[in-house]
Amino acid sequence: MLLPLPLLALTFGLAAAASTSNEGSVTDYAPTTGVQCPTDAPLVRVFTPQDQTLNALEAEYVDARASNVIPGAWRDWIGDGSGIGYNASVITAMEGNWSKIGIAISGGGFRAAQYGAGVLSGLDARNESAKAAGTGGLLQVASYLSGLSGGSWITGSLYMNNWPTVKDMVFGNGGNLSGWLLDLNLAAPAGLDLFNQDNQYFYGSLLWSIEAKAMKGLDTSITDPWARMISYHFLNQTTRANFFNNDTAHGAGQLWSKIPEIPAWQQYEPPFPIVMSDSRPVGSNMTTALPPGPVVYEMTPFEFGSWDPNLSAMVNMTYAGTHFVNSNPPNATACVTGFDQAGFIMGSSASLFNQILDFGQNTLQGFSSQDASGLLYVLDRQLQEVSTRANDVANWPNPFQALKPQTFEDSASDWLELIDGSSNGENVPIGQLFVRARGLDVIVAVDSSADEATFAWPNGSSIVKSASRMTNLLLASHQPFPPIPMTTDDFISTGVNRRPTFFGCYPTQSPPEYPMLIYFPNSPPLNGDNPTTNTGTFQIAYSPIQTRIFIDQVHNNTIGGFVPNATGSDSNFGKCLQCAAVDRARYKISPMPSRSDFCTTCFQQYCYDAQNPPSQSELPGRQFAFVDPDPQGVSGALTFFAAHKAALIGGFVGLFVAIALLVTFLIWWKRRKSREAEYHAVGDLHDAEDEDAYLVTLGLDKYELKPRRRKWLKGGDKFAFSFM
Ligand SMILES: *[C@@H]1O[C@H](CO)[C@@H](O)[C@H](O)[C@H]1NC(C)=O
Ligand SMILES: *[C@@H]1O[C@H](CO)[C@@H](O)[C@H](O)[C@H]1NC(C)=O
Ligand SMILES: *[C@@H]1O[C@H](CO)[C@@H](O)[C@H](O)[C@H]1NC(C)=O
Ligand SMILES: *[C@@H]1O[C@H](CO)[C@@H](O)[C@H](O)[C@H]1NC(C)=O
Ligand SMILES: *[C@@H]1O[C@H](CO)[C@@H](O)[C@H](O)[C@H]1NC(C)=O
Ligand SMILES: *[C@@H]1O[C@H](CO)[C@@H](O)[C@H](O)[C@H]1NC(C)=O
Ligand SMILES: *[C@@H]1O[C@H](CO)[C@@H](O)[C@H](O)[C@H]1NC(C)=O
Ligand SMILES: *[C@@H]1O[C@H](CO)[C@@H](O)[C@H](O)[C@H]1NC(C)=O
Ligand SMILES: *[C@@H]1O[C@H](CO)[C@@H](O)[C@H](O)[C@H]1NC(C)=O
Ligand SMILES: *[C@@H]1O[C@H](CO)[C@@H](O)[C@H](O)[C@H]1NC(C)=O
Ligand SMILES: *[C@@H]1O[C@H](CO)[C@@H](O)[C@H](O)[C@H]1NC(C)=O
Ligand SMILES: *[C@@H]1O[C@H](CO)[C@@H](O)[C@H](O)[C@H]1NC(C)=O
Repeated sequence: MLLPLPLLALTFGLAAAASTSNEGSVTDYAPTTGVQCPTDAPLVRVFTPQDQTLNALEAEYVDARASNVIPGAWRDWIGDGSGIGYNASVITAMEGNWSKIGIAISGGGFRAAQYGAGVLSGLDARNESAKAAGTGGLLQVASYLSGLSGGSWITGSLYMNNWPTVKDMVFGNGGNLSGWLLDLNLAAPAGLDLFNQDNQYFYGSLLWSIEAKAMKGLDTSITDPWARMISYHFLNQTTRANFFNNDTAHGAGQLWSKIPEIPAWQQYEPPFPIVMSDSRPVGSNMTTALPPGPVVYEMTPFEFGSWDPNLSAMVNMTYAGTHFVNSNPPNATACVTGFDQAGFIMGSSASLFNQILDFGQNTLQGFSSQDASGLLYVLDRQLQEVSTRANDVANWPNPFQALKPQTFEDSASDWLELIDGSSNGENVPIGQLFVRARGLDVIVAVDSSADEATFAWPNGSSIVKSASRMTNLLLASHQPFPPIPMTTDDFISTGVNRRPTFFGCYPTQSPPEYPMLIYFPNSPPLNGDNPTTNTGTFQIAYSPIQTRIFIDQVHNNTIGGFVPNATGSDSNFGKCLQCAAVDRARYKISPMPSRSDFCTTCFQQYCYDAQNPPSQSELPGRQFAFVDPDPQGVSGALTFFAAHKAALIGGFVGLFVAIALLVTFLIWWKRRKSREAEYHAVGDLHDAEDEDAYLVTLGLDKYELKPRRRKWLKGGDKFAFSFM
C-alpha cells in the first residue's frame, strides 16, 4: 500500500532574483564562459620528466618564503641548536641550507579533516603546548602542505580562511570565523528528517548553485552538490545563524586561483598548498579501486595538471575549466574562468562516488547488503538516466586533449573524469612531495586511513602503495623512496603504524639518495586512554564534544612521541623531531658535521632500521576499540529514522538520500533542457513519464522515491518521497 506524502518541495526559480547582498550569491558557483583567452603567455605548458620545472610563480613563492620567513622560523624553533646537541657554528652553517619540508594530510572524510587538524595543531608554534613540547614549529618551517579528500578539506579551510590556528578554524573565533559546524550533518544539516523546512532550504540552495553552473552549458555531476555541501563547513560565509538562508554565497565564488590574494599569503606565512585527485580513464567506467597506472592530478593555486611521466603537463589554474586541444582553445573567446571553485576542488579530491556507488559489490560500509542494495538500486536507476556525462565522477573539461597520444590515456577525450585522490590506494598525498623539481628533503605523512578491519586504524597500506607506484612507474619524475617495511603485516609487527616513525634516517650517499619520511599514523592514545579518533569515514556529523576530544587526543599523541615498553609521553620527542628536521641540512654543508649524540640516540628510538627492526611489543597498554566520548552526541538527530527502526550508521543514510534527490534534479534538468528544445512554446507541461518511482529500502522500511515535475515554467518543482 502506497501512501504518497509529498514532503519535499524544491523550488527552482528559473529567473530567481540574484542576491543583492555584498556577501555574494550561491549562484556565484557558476563559472564564466566565453572569456577572451589571454595571449600574453601560454596557458598550457608541456614538459618531460627530464626537463621538469616548477611553475615560475610557485618557485617564486617557495623561494621568497625560504629566504624571508623560514630562517627566522627555524631559529624560533631550534634556537642555537644546543638543545639537540649541535654547536652553534653547525647551526649557523645550516643557514641557507635548511632542509626543505612538506606535510601531507590523508583522506578519510571528517575523521581525516579532524586528524589533520590535531596533528597540525601539535606542529604549530602558535599553540602553547605544542611549542612547549618542542614539536610546535615544524609547521612554520614547512615549504609545502598537501591534502587529499578529507585532508583537502582542512587544506582548503586553512587557506580560504587566511591561515588561522586550528582552534579558531575548527571552533570559531567569535568573529569572522564560525568554525566547521561539524555537528550539522554534512548531508542533512537540519537533522535526518529530510523534509523539514530547513533541510529543504538547504537542498534548494545547493540546487540553485548547480543549476547556475549547468546553465553555462557545463556538465554537472554528483560531485557538484557534494562540493557545495563541503563548502558550508570548510569555507567561510556560513554561520549557525545563516546556514539555511541565502544571505551569503556560502563559499560559492571563492576560487582556488585567488589563494595568492589572502593576506597571510602576501606575508609568505603559509606553506605552498597542493590538493590532488585521481582519474578514471574515460570510457573505462571503473567502479572499483584503481590500479597504479591512471594519471594522478594535482591542483595548486597556480596550476592543474600532472607530473606523471605519461602526461607531464599543466594548465593555468585560472583557466582550468577551458577545453584546450593541443594546448590551444578552440577560438579566441572560448576560455572559461571561475571553474576552480574551492568547493569543487575539495569535492573533486573527495569524489569517491564511483566506488561507493558500486552495484556489483556490497561496498556500503555499515549497511547490511539488503539496505545497501536498496540505496544502490535507486542511485543506479537515476545515474543511468543522466548519461550525458558520467555522474559518479568530477567532470573537468580536458585541457590536455591531443597531448602525448602515445602515453596519455585521455589524450583523445574531451573530458577528464576525476575521482577521489585515494582511489589508487595512496591515501596520503606524498606523491606530489616526491616530485623531483620540488626538491624536498623531509616529507611528513599524516595518515588517518581506516585500514584495519576491526578498529579502523592505519596499517601502512597507503605508504606501501605509494612506494610501489613511485618505484615502479615514476622514477623518472619522482625521487626514490626510503626503506620501509615492505608489507602491511610488517608495518603492524614492527609497530611503526602505532607511533611516530622516521624512515630514511641512514642514507648511504651524499646528497642522500631519498628524502626522509616522518610518519604520524592515527594511533591509540599513548597514555592508554580509550581512543576516540578511529571513527568511520562515513560519519558525517560530530558533536562539539566529540570534535574537541578528538583533536585534543591527536594533539597529545603528536607532541608526545612514545616511551618504549611503557605508556606515557616522551619529553624528548619534540627535540627528536627537531633532530629529524635538521638532519638533511648536514649533508649540504661541507665538511659534513656529524650527527649529534643526542640526535643519534633519538634516531635509535624513532627511526625505522630495516636491519634492526623495532617491535610492536614496545607499545604496551594501548586501547584499540573506539569509545564514543559523547554518546548523546548528534544522535538526537537520528530520532526520525530511529522511529522507523532503521539500522543506521551516522548520517550515511541522509547522505545517500540527499544525493538521490540531487541526482533526481539532474534528471529533471536534462529532460527540461531537451524538452525546451522540443516544445519551445509550450507553457505548461505535465508528463507521466516523469512519474518513474524508485524503491529505497532502509532497515525494515521501504520508501518510494518519486521525482514529480509540475509546472516547471512557473518555477515549481516537487519531489515526492513516499512510504510503502
Ligand atoms: C662542537 O665543537 C667542539 C669544539 O669546537 C667539538 O669538539 C665538537 O666535536 C663539536 N660538536 C659537534 C656536534 O660538531
Ligand atoms: C650552505 O653551506 C655552505 C657552507 O658549508 C655555504 O658555503 C653555502 O653558501 C650554503 N648554501 C646556501 C644556499 O647558503
Ligand atoms: C572569506 O574568504 C575569502 C577568501 O579567502 C575572503 O576573500 C573573504 O574576505 C573572507 N570573508 C570573511 C568574512 O572572512
Ligand atoms: C578576521 O578577523 C580578524 C580579527 O578578528 C582580522 O585580523 C582579519 O583580517 C579578519 N579577516 C577577514 C578576512 O576579514
Ligand atoms: C534559497 O534559494 C533557493 C533557490 O531559489 C531556494 O530553493 C531556497 O529555498 C532558498 N532558501 C531560503 C531560505 O529561502
Ligand atoms: C562505458 O559506458 C559507456 C556509456 O554507457 C559505453 O558506451 C562504454 O562502452 C562503456 N565502456 C566500457 C569499457 O564498458
Ligand atoms: C603510463 O602509460 C603506460 C603505457 O600506456 C601504462 O602501462 C602505465 O600504467 C601508465 N602509467 C604510469 C604511471 O606509468
Ligand atoms: C595565468 O594566466 C594569466 C593571464 O595570462 C596570468 O596573468 C597569470 O600569471 C597566469 N598564471 C600562472 C600561474 O601562470
Ligand atoms: C568558440 O568556442 C566555444 C566553445 O567551443 C563555442 O561555444 C563558441 O561558439 C565559439 N565561438 C566562435 C565565435 O566560434
Ligand atoms: C593548543 O592545542 C590544545 C590541544 O588541542 C588546545 O586545547 C588549545 O586551546 C590550543 N591553544 C591554542 C592557542 O590554539
Ligand atoms: C591532553 O593532555 C593534557 C595535558 O597532559 C591533558 O590535560 C588532557 O586531558 C589531554 N587530553 C586528552 C583528550 O587526552
Ligand atoms: C623493551 O622490552 C623488550 C623485551 O622485554 C626488550 O628487549 C627491549 O630492549 C626493551 N626496549 C627498551 C628500549 O628498553
